[in-house]
Amino acid sequence: MNIPMVDLKTQLADIREEIEEGLRAVLDSTQFILGPNVQALEKETAAYLGVNHAIGVASGTDALHLALRAAGIGPGDEVITTPFTFIATAEAISYLGATPVFVDIDADTFNIDVDKIEASITPKTKALLPVHLFGQPADMKSILALCRQHKLKLIEDCAQSFGADYDGRQTGGFGEFGCFSFFPSKNLGGYGDGGLITSNDDELAAAVRVLRNHGSRERYCHSVIGYNSRLDELQAVILRVKLKHIERYNQLRRENAHYYSKRLRHPQIRTPLEKGAGKHVYHQYTILVSDRERVQKALQEAGIASAVYYPIPLHRQEVYRGSLNHVTLPVTEDAAQKVLSLPIYPELTREQIERISAVVLQAL
Ligand SMILES: Cc1ncc(COP(=O)(O)O)c(C=O)c1O
Repeated sequence: MNIPMVDLKTQLADIREEIEEGLRAVLDSTQFILGPNVQALEKETAAYLGVNHAIGVASGTDALHLALRAAGIGPGDEVITTPFTFIATAEAISYLGATPVFVDIDADTFNIDVDKIEASITPKTKALLPVHLFGQPADMKSILALCRQHKLKLIEDCAQSFGADYDGRQTGGFGEFGCFSFFPSKNLGGYGDGGLITSNDDELAAAVRVLRNHGSRERYCHSVIGYNSRLDELQAVILRVKLKHIERYNQLRRENAHYYSKRLRHPQIRTPLEKGAGKHVYHQYTILVSDRERVQKALQEAGIASAVYYPIPLHRQEVYRGSLNHVTLPVTEDAAQKVLSLPIYPELTREQIERISAVVLQAL
């Protein structure tokens, strides 16, 4: 049997009844946008993540865009981030006329290398935007110290880290804003697009609420130019059901990852390293392997999915290359050549992990 990167079907079978019941209730209510389920989800996620505010928006990309805007980022500003992430992280900075400044990554975690941030800070730098890549928290202790020292705003990209904690605190509550994605394949995923912004600051949270709804505090009164970026009730129903299981889902991801790492002991493979005070929730299980093509081909022939996150770092993307021709980020570039993500999801079985690992080892 083929093994996909994510198996949403098996997961759905388990929670289908509850989801269908909730969806039917929304259909009967005919309230589809920003209704009681979105409100309840906002309360429940805020409680789970240990933050004062959680605001549902239309996607993780919008979460970043609105958060950066509410944090006051605009034309001429620089925002320091990682080049080893999904394009949305940098896009959100560019939407506002600001410039993403890419800092190389830590070879062990694939997260931004905190020792290299300071050299990139200029008078134009307004914020740090770390990504908790693959579900492993970035080095928040050092990042917070840098933010304090240089008076920088902190916006966390938590698209891949729902439920990951760092030193006992959930990601998303360390700075001005945390930005989550509910893309279906995420650790907490809806059945369509969705996102969430978290904050501990009452004023900043209120500003985001206004921005997501056409700059309106009161119906038909518009104080700023805002956006149409709202979460819908159908997604909120689905996410509320899944939120009840997120601890278990993340625990199963961790157990599966650890089992992989036991099976994949080989001199040519580097399995993921859990480093520092963060608890990895394995949105991706990503190994480093020099002969990636050979491994991918063997997996494909065996009917096993695999993926490269990310083959082209952001500073090498066509959209950013022009201004960054001179930039070399060797650790990132090396990772882009060698990373390979294997199927990981809560429902993955031991037998499947054994089969996948055997194919990988045999290919080498
Ligand atoms: C690191 C990262 N940032 C941002 C996003 C954007 O989220 P969305 O697809 O919900 O817009 C994603 C996911 O796609 C992501 O992985």
